Amino acid sequence: MHFSRLLQDSLVLTLGLASLAAAMPKQIVARQSTWNPPSNLVLPLQQVWDHEVATYSNALGFNNYGYDQVMANGGYLNFCVRWDSSQNLSEAQRAQVLTALQRSMKKWIDWLVGFDGFPYSSVPVNIVGYAVKSTSQFQGSTSGYDIYTTKDSGGIPECDPRCGRFFHQDGNYNSCPGGAARHYDMSLWLTDGFGGGAGGDWGQRIGTEYFLSNINSENIHILLHEMGHSFALDDFYDWTPTGVSNFIMLAGSSSVITDFDGWMLRDWWRHLKTRYNLGTPVTTTTARTTTTATRTTTPATTATAVRTTTTTTRATTTGSSSGGSPLWGQCGGANWTGPTTCAQGTCTYSNPYYSQCL
Ligand SMILES: *[C@@H]1O[C@H](CO)[C@@H](O)[C@H](O)[C@H]1NC(C)=O
Ligand SMILES: *[C@@H]1O[C@H](CO)[C@@H](O)[C@H](O)[C@H]1NC(C)=O
Repeated sequence: MHFSRLLQDSLVLTLGLASLAAAMPKQIVARQSTWNPPSNLVLPLQQVWDHEVATYSNALGFNNYGYDQVMANGGYLNFCVRWDSSQNLSEAQRAQVLTALQRSMKKWIDWLVGFDGFPYSSVPVNIVGYAVKSTSQFQGSTSGYDIYTTKDSGGIPECDPRCGRFFHQDGNYNSCPGGAARHYDMSLWLTDGFGGGAGGDWGQRIGTEYFLSNINSENIHILLHEMGHSFALDDFYDWTPTGVSNFIMLAGSSSVITDFDGWMLRDWWRHLKTRYNLGTPVTTTTARTTTTATRTTTPATTATAVRTTTTTTRATTTGSSSGGSPLWGQCGGANWTGPTTCAQGTCTYSNPYYSQCL
């Protein structure tokens, strides 16, 4: 099991945004360079971290989170757009798509800039390609873009897998016609008639209509939520951490990234950053030694134990439900050996590696 699970977020649409006005969070007042969250967020952040490590199959071993992609590139992200739509696409629209992606990604990245050794002051986002049903949909100049008519096994436009990070997590793009410079890290997958959204290390999927009608909005909240998944953040369908009730990853509760979302993102960064050989941080020797010792001990023992327990529990649950996978559960995909039917929902194809009960 890997992180390419699809997280279907139909709940995002169930609340009108008007009801969110009261929940608009304050702007971030001061950037903090170390792990020092506001006191009211300490407990819920710990709960979230413990829950993620307990329920993800390999939380600290998985190597294709958004952080990994940024670091592998040396500080940028390339996107490819899957234009899973019957609409044409003008040059003006493409410029808006790029601006929307850049604006949205920046809202997350800004939480990492200046924090705990994150080495970049910005993370430029570029779109290197489009996958279309027909090249005639792509109006105007194609300059700067690779245009793909490749399809996935479900017949849906897909950017060339030879150029995709999801398919080449070792960073070897020798088979990509344009080489590493033309590779893409994430896909923005826009599907006609798609409600809610889905996100993972492979990118984000949202409805074409929703995206185009919100393309100039400051906060395209479903996209922001799905980008959170690309950076390892979880959903909160069945529980809520203590004392926090409005944040973008709690679908439908916030139209903006809140302080709590930002600190959840930072929590992942501080746990993952040791894999990046960032060099010596400017702190005292004493402090550094202490921190390293603590961090090494905790994930290695506690996390593994917890994860094993949870996996067992989950396997038992799955096995006993003869009716198939639960709602949101996996029900198909390459190498999937679990149930291929759903106890609740319909088994829905997402990509060659993943089908999900929705
Ligand atoms: C797309 O553009 C082509 C011409 O380039 C036109 O024939 C077709 O009707 C357009 N399709 C839509 C859905 O607008
Ligand atoms: C599926 O299994 C094959 C053979 O073990 C392996 O090479 C491949 O990477 C696996 N694919 C995925 C998506 O895990």
